[in-house]
Amino acid sequence: MNKEQTLKLLGDYNQQYILDHYYRLNLEKKGDFLKELKGLDLALVFKLYKKFAQEKDISRPFGEIHPAPIITIPETSREKTRQQEARILGESLIRKNEVAVLIVAGGQGSRLGFEGPKGKFRISPVKQKSLFQLLAESVKALTNRYQATIPLLIMTNQENQQETQQFFAANNFFNLDRKTLYFFNQGMLPTLTAEGQLILKNDTQLLVNPDGHGGSLKALFEIAFLQHLIDHGFSELFYCQVDNPLVKIADPVFIGYHRMEGAEISTKVVRRHDPVEKVGIYGLVNGKPTIIEYSDFRPEDYKALDEKGAICHWAGNTAIHMVSLAFVKRLNQHGYALPYHRAEKEVEGRGRDGRWAQMTGWKFETFVFDSIPLARKACGVEVIREEEFAPVKNRQGKDSPDTARAAMNALHRSWLKEAGARLAPEVQVEISPLFALDREELVAKLKGQNLVVNRDRYIDL
Ligand code: UTP
Repeated sequence: MNKEQTLKLLGDYNQQYILDHYYRLNLEKKGDFLKELKGLDLALVFKLYKKFAQEKDISRPFGEIHPAPIITIPETSREKTRQQEARILGESLIRKNEVAVLIVAGGQGSRLGFEGPKGKFRISPVKQKSLFQLLAESVKALTNRYQATIPLLIMTNQENQQETQQFFAANNFFNLDRKTLYFFNQGMLPTLTAEGQLILKNDTQLLVNPDGHGGSLKALFEIAFLQHLIDHGFSELFYCQVDNPLVKIADPVFIGYHRMEGAEISTKVVRRHDPVEKVGIYGLVNGKPTIIEYSDFRPEDYKALDEKGAICHWAGNTAIHMVSLAFVKRLNQHGYALPYHRAEKEVEGRGRDGRWAQMTGWKFETFVFDSIPLARKACGVEVIREEEFAPVKNRQGKDSPDTARAAMNALHRSWLKEAGARLAPEVQVEISPLFALDREELVAKLKGQNLVVNRDRYIDL
């Protein structure tokens, strides 16, 4: 869009205040502000505003929701054999350099209230390693184990990009191969007031927000990195969020199931035992696997029990996915296919009187899980929550650093006990991903060592 078209667009969407501001600027600042305006998808947010402003009920219209088919934790010998086959297949795909890892770290982490990128948050119980360090070391350990190239893609946003990259650089990139570590930015969209007005951050910049974790699949396509991976023989992407320190990165079993099922996207789910626990549910809507937000259920359906007294809609989303690269490409081929959602959040920006003020902002975002119903085939895989899912969302209470640390400690204690170690009840333990990535590896390494742990202990190479 050229200058005239941009200014006309502002006029068409009643942004008189922004136009007046523009005309008051000196020549140099005018140029800067115009550059900012041209770099943002203004037409998109104005259209979205119009759409959402007309809708009275912002929740998505869901029809009947049914439980989706899910590969549950294996119990029978047949299921165990299938799991073993999945592991072998997944391992072979990693060894053949077909699997890349994507960590989305472009969120604002507002609930945690931590200054800086969330991945810098120190989380491990003994060593106080950051989330980024744990994830990076897991990738490093996997590349060693499988002698494979596993590209690690980290999505940031324009506001936390620099600090994230500096953190990796200051830590020698956690000894990852620099050639296979990539940082990229997701898109930013202007935040609007509840009246649909753009908000100034300063004379030449608007208040913007990252375009949601769904922006990862869009950005990968737009920066042509997707094609780069495909051209180099990669076919699958392991997707996870930066805030789950228990995540089993590039879990071969998960990769294997995904491929065996011929899925374009797969999702790990954990069992919900509490009928009122609020999580997104992996279920069927109009026959298609879909993540349904807690708020989109009728309360009686959300709490419904089956004839055995178990929760009907038990499959809670972990936001851990396998995504086929060909599918990501398809999602982008005719414009980005994912729908936008709007979130209402308190934001700060320049008010009409020129003073800094707090106001209600409308943010527009896409969600990765909205791609699930668009897939030709999707697959759900149950995993054990205590082994794989401990998100760090809130400052305190549920899903907080305390609960995640306790989960890490409990898991690693259970591995050590299985390896024959004797542990004093109160001690905290932590196992480096570089020493053992999973229970089996730890047991194999410590067998016969009769380890006794009487004080907090970090188990490293
Ligand atoms: P959340 O939805 O939990 O958001 O993101 P958040 O930004 O971390 O925290 P709050 O809601 O502000 O408290 C889940 C994952 O998706 C990433 C986050 O970094 C996190 O890993 N994310 C979220 C992005 O990468 N970009 C976004 O625009 C939003």
